[in-house]
This record gives sequence, structure tokens and C-alpha cells, in this order.
Amino acid sequence: MDQTGLFGTGETYMSDPNKVAIVTGAGRRWGMGYQIALGLANKGLDIAVADIREDWGKESAGAIKAETGRRAIFVKTDISKRASVQAMMRADRRAGQRRRHRAARERR
Ligand SMILES: NC(=O)c1ccc[n+]([C@@H]2O[C@H](COP(=O)([O-])OP(=O)(O)OC[C@H]3O[C@@H](n4cnc5c(N)ncnc54)[C@H](O)[C@@H]3O)[C@@H](O)[C@H]2O)c1
Repeated sequence: MDQTGLFGTGETYMSDPNKVAIVTGAGRRWGMGYQIALGLANKGLDIAVADIREDWGKESAGAIKAETGRRAIFVKTDISKRASVQAMMRADRRAGQRRRHRAARERR
């Protein structure tokens, strides 16, 4: 991480199309996590909604996709459980690999 923190210098970092934001607790459509995820998607990031509630999480990822046109996935996660967070990170990495392979195929 550089001196400017996780979000770097702002626009440059946030609009990098290769970046994915993992937003925990972004399942509930009227909660803060959802608004943060939506804001990041509007800045050009793809989103991983990590939430304990599958119904809310799927709905939230679908709404972010529909509203912003960015990719958004739901990964069921209980952030109070280390194993669940580790599984979420693995799922997100796999999704990233699939995304990179798809982008490489599209460039050919
Ligand atoms: N809303 C406010 O004004 C406010 C102000 C200050 C602090 N906070 C705090 O910020 C946090 C979020 O607030 P909010 O209003 O957006 O809450 P919210 O209830 O709308 O959203 C919380 C989200 O976290 C998810 N969640 C709950 N437990 C989880 C777990 N173990 N693993 C993964 N996901 C889980 C829920 O399913 C939900 O989607 C809370 O801790 C709240 O106390 C809220």
C-alpha cells in the first residue's frame, strides 16, 4: 500500500478496470455496505458482495450489475469466521482468474 492508502490517489486507482472491490456487509439494499459497493461500481470497479445473507447478497449483486453495468458477484461470507473469510478470498481469486481468461479470449 502506498502512502495515500488503500484507494491510492483516487480516480486513477478507482477507475482501474482490473480492480475488484470486496465489500463486506453489502447485502442489505438500504445499508451502508450496499451504498459503498454501488459507489465503487460507479467509479468503474467490479464488485464482490460478501455477506452472510444469501437472499440479500444475490439481490444486491444483481442490482449493482443492472444499475452500473459492472460485474458483480455474491460470495456468501460470515466475516466472524476466519475459514469463511478465507474461502471468500479464494472464491474471489477464482472469479478474477476467470475474468482475466475471458478478457484474454476476447482480445484474441
Ligand atoms: N446506519 C448507521 O447510521 C450507522 C452509523 C454508525 C455505525 N453503523 C454501523 O455500521 C455497520 C453497518 O451498518 P448498516 O446500517 O449498513 O447495517 P445493515 O444492517 O443495513 O447492513 C449490515 C449487513 O451486514 C450483513 N452481515 C451481518 N452479519 C454479518 C456477518 N457475520 N458476515 C457477513 N455479513 C454480515 C447483513 O446481512 C447486512 O447485509 C453496523 O455495524 C452498524 O452498527 C451504522
